[in-house]
Amino acid sequence: MEYLQAAGLSLPRLGLGTFRMQGDACRAAIESALALGYRHIDTAEMYGNEDAIGAAIAAAGIARKDLHVTTKVWNENLAPDAIRRAFDTSLRKLRLDHADLYLVHWPAKNMNLPAMFETLLRLKEEGRTRAIGVANFNIALLKSVVEEIKAPIACNQVEYHVMLDQTPLRRYLAAKAIPLVAYCPLAQGRTASNETLAAIGRKHGASAAQVALKWLLDQDGVAAIPKTSRRESQRANLDALNVGLDDEDRQAIAALPKNKRCVNPGFAPAWD
Ligand SMILES: NC(=O)c1ccc[n+]([C@@H]2O[C@H](COP(=O)([O-])OP(=O)(O)OC[C@H]3O[C@@H](n4cnc5c(N)ncnc54)[C@H](OP(=O)(O)O)[C@@H]3O)[C@@H](O)[C@H]2O)c1
Repeated sequence: MEYLQAAGLSLPRLGLGTFRMQGDACRAAIESALALGYRHIDTAEMYGNEDAIGAAIAAAGIARKDLHVTTKVWNENLAPDAIRRAFDTSLRKLRLDHADLYLVHWPAKNMNLPAMFETLLRLKEEGRTRAIGVANFNIALLKSVVEEIKAPIACNQVEYHVMLDQTPLRRYLAAKAIPLVAYCPLAQGRTASNETLAAIGRKHGASAAQVALKWLLDQDGVAAIPKTSRRESQRANLDALNVGLDDEDRQAIAALPKNKRCVNPGFAPAWD
């Protein structure tokens, strides 16, 4: 496994996403992924699956130091007391004494950034999370967090894949040495049926989805968290790290339309 270094963390570059996985099926999927070698699990209080993930982690018996668990506070819980309550509940469900990365899941219109980050930093200082970070923050919000509050964030988790341009955000994060964790790295499965990616894959004995993942993982400072419950896809996504793309492949991928955003809830901030 390859790792990104950020804010004291070694973040496995390929993790397992878990949105829409629940109950016993979620537990089985996590057990399968851990057995295959995944060491980075992405969850959130909003996914309603932290208890199933906690059960799978407990059953796997992997040394805590070898496992990276990210969870997130929902954007209705961004007042200091609410963050604390949400965090305690997440850890209890996950059966962990600390998280590795605790993220603000989405910005909220009326959020008090300094108060939020004071609370998050205190959780970090108390050793209850090894690092803190954000998700779905645009450049203007990142500037407030990084340049005004000077919070040591370990990532911005945002939608990023072959069908969506994120160049300005990537440049800003790279300049600050902050990793970009790509969610929906397979464009919610759409990459699997893309003919350009399939043709590139045929050249290398890989699938279209593997090509899409490797395109992300070839970029400095980028990690990815594809979601799949199926063991063969979990294995294929891990194996994507071994696919070798060339300049011709990258040119073909650069020419794909890059305006397909899969996630855009009503409360999302302006992206640019
Ligand atoms: N921070 C945020 O606001 C935010 C928002 C969205 C997502 N996320 C995180 O990012 C994770 C990933 O995003 P996502 O789940 O929306 O989308 P995704 O990972 O881009 O795509 C998941 C879909 O791709 C399919 N798939 C996975 N591997 C495949 C392969 N090798 N070949 C063919 N199909 C494959 C899966 O099918 P099967 O399951 O049937 O295999 C599933 O339908 C989420 O689970 C969540 O943890 C975070």
